[in-house]
Amino acid sequence: MKKYISSLFASLFLLSSLHAAQEQTLAIIKPDAVAADHIGQIIARLEKNGLHVIALKMAHITKPQAEEFYAIHKERPFYKDLVTFMSSAPVVLIALEGENSVAKNREVIGATNPKEAAQGTIRADFARSLSENAIHGSDSVDNAKNEVAFFFSANELFPKK
Ligand code: RTP
Ligand code: MG
Repeated sequence: MKKYISSLFASLFLLSSLHAAQEQTLAIIKPDAVAADHIGQIIARLEKNGLHVIALKMAHITKPQAEEFYAIHKERPFYKDLVTFMSSAPVVLIALEGENSVAKNREVIGATNPKEAAQGTIRADFARSLSENAIHGSDSVDNAKNEVAFFFSANELFPKK
């Protein structure tokens, strides 16, 4: 009986630590990839790599929204073009969940410049250029939390049980 109880506690501990490793992150299929009808193929890549879609919507984001979302790049020379591009046409907003999902999403997406992106990554296969590079991915756990909350309210998120 004692053995049974201790193994039950060990299993519960293991389950709770597995649950704790689940992270949420944000991906945005950018206007170039939406226009090129690559939505389905990009989502399939994410799902194949253990990233579960827990929220999804298409939106034409406004210029002020894009400015706020990319405020971290305000001083960068590409900021204005980036904001114009991201608010130029519809995008697909996706909240993802999975173990180490922030790093995993970035790995599946590939380097910012598609010329430098590893073979088989989303940007290697679907990006047109450095500025029109198919998809956005949150770059840290803290930013991911803020970015998911930027576009989705709690009742729009459907985390895995
Ligand atoms: P993202 O935020 O969109 O996932 O991209 P990232 O982390 O790989 O790259 P980041 O440095 O955050 O840059 C944001 C986006 O700005 C555009 N960019 N243009 N012309 C340029 O030199 C330049 N550099 C960056 C890209 O669209 C990049 O994804
Ligand atoms: Mg970034």
